[in-house]
Amino acid sequence: MIETKGLTKYFGSFAALRDVSIALHPGRLTGIIGPNGSGKSTLIKCLLGLVRPSDGLVLHNGRLPDTGGSYRAHIGYMPQRATFPGDLTGREVLALVSKLRSEKPHRMDSLIDLFDLHRDLNKRVRTLSGGTRQKLSAVVAGMYDPTLLILDEPTAGLDTGASKVFKGYVSEQLKQGCAVLMTTHIISDLEEMADDIVLLVDGTVSYAGSVRELKLTTDRPLLEAAVAEILQQGAA
Ligand SMILES: Nc1ncnc2c1ncn2[C@@H]1O[C@H](COP(=O)(O)OP(=O)(O)OP(=O)(O)O)[C@@H](O)[C@H]1O
Ligand SMILES: [Mg+2]
Repeated sequence: MIETKGLTKYFGSFAALRDVSIALHPGRLTGIIGPNGSGKSTLIKCLLGLVRPSDGLVLHNGRLPDTGGSYRAHIGYMPQRATFPGDLTGREVLALVSKLRSEKPHRMDSLIDLFDLHRDLNKRVRTLSGGTRQKLSAVVAGMYDPTLLILDEPTAGLDTGASKVFKGYVSEQLKQGCAVLMTTHIISDLEEMADDIVLLVDGTVSYAGSVRELKLTTDRPLLEAAVAEILQQGAA
């Protein structure tokens, strides 16, 4: 299990995260939602060790993650904007990732098949369409069979068919016990997939818990209405 305890991040005097404590459980999808600039990507970067918290902790199975990289090796990450070297082809990007990791990918070929990427892998990354770049990013995130999958707005830019394929892939990972964290502004995706919700407002957790409990406590059967209710209560 991955947890954060009292995570706080200042950029100068601006608090992007304040006292954020959440837990990500195996086999469950946690949706992080919140307005633009509420701290979702910053929280993700703290989990990945890409941003150093000003205060608080990230714990992996109750312990501080090691600095040697074995914690990171468990994580598959799809950033909000993938920045692959533009002059490389997709195939070269995948080869580079494998080389950096010095380990053969466990399931690269099946993901290339799944996202129907064979032809596009021969094109330079900078010439790829936004959605195709997202698919390449999904292959990079999944090719080492992670136990934690972190997805920052993964379906933004995917067409309907690709989005469905992607959600099928995530469901399969969940069934295998992978913990999934996903940010999105597409609430219907979370209605379909999320077990737990973290609602961030101005860097602070307004709600963290199961979708079921959220709907019960707000007496709203639909996630969108339940979230609106919490936001309204916060504003009152
Ligand atoms: N490196 C940085 N330096 C200064 N401020 C930053 C930095 N990174 C993020 N911020 C600020 O922290 C706040 C949270 O940003 P973040 O990217 O985490 O938001 P978000 O919830 O992911 O938003 P979106 O829905 O637009 O993706 C924003 O006000 C942003 O400008
Ligand atoms: Mg973001």
